[in-house]
Amino acid sequence: MISIIVAKARNNAIGRGNQMLWHISGDLKYFKQVTYGHPVVMGYNTWLSLGERPLPGRENIVVSGRHTATAGCGAEFCGTLEEALAKAQASGLGAEEVFVIGGGQLYSQAMPLADRLYITEVEAVIDDAEVFFPQIDPAVWKEMTRSELRHDDRSGYDYSFVTYVRR
Ligand SMILES: NC(=O)c1ccc[n+]([C@@H]2O[C@H](COP(=O)([O-])OP(=O)(O)OC[C@H]3O[C@@H](n4cnc5c(N)ncnc54)[C@H](OP(=O)(O)O)[C@@H]3O)[C@@H](O)[C@H]2O)c1
Repeated sequence: MISIIVAKARNNAIGRGNQMLWHISGDLKYFKQVTYGHPVVMGYNTWLSLGERPLPGRENIVVSGRHTATAGCGAEFCGTLEEALAKAQASGLGAEEVFVIGGGQLYSQAMPLADRLYITEVEAVIDDAEVFFPQIDPAVWKEMTRSELRHDDRSGYDYSFVTYVRR
């Protein structure tokens, strides 16, 4: 199974200046809880945004056409998304669910391949964002679960966790 996990604003904004648009600790905890033990696939820009440090407890696979892994970097590099997903699915523990964790380019390419979406809906509209999540087509995706609305004191944003499955 291929899953996508993202935190997006109401207008689908997800990034600016190769950074996230908010720091919501409840969302970071949720991200860790959902993805821990599973392979994670990310684009090269997202790898840079993580400070080129792998997420612990997960096999980290970076998609890049121009860069390769440096010794001891803690991630594997693949030249195409297809190769990255095949590598993730062939890996050991947790490979029954593989997560595409961003960013915008990877999400757009992975949407047609994904079985499940884990969306953190952040109740914000960020007009000056530079990177956006693709539209979730209700003809293709069915909402399965929705958490109660939560509030993050630090950012001031409300947010909820929503999951979708392919119809
Ligand atoms: N809100 C969230 O949940 C969330 C999650 C993750 C990231 N983000 C944000 O998203 C932004 C980054 O997204 P982005 O769209 O700029 O970049 P990205 O998807 O992380 O990475 C794009 C790069 O990946 C490589 N790539 C993409 N598709 C490829 C393919 N099919 N084959 C080979 N290489 C491929 C290319 O790298 P090369 O040039 O090296 O070939 C490309 O420049 C940041 O602002 C980040 O903070 C937000």
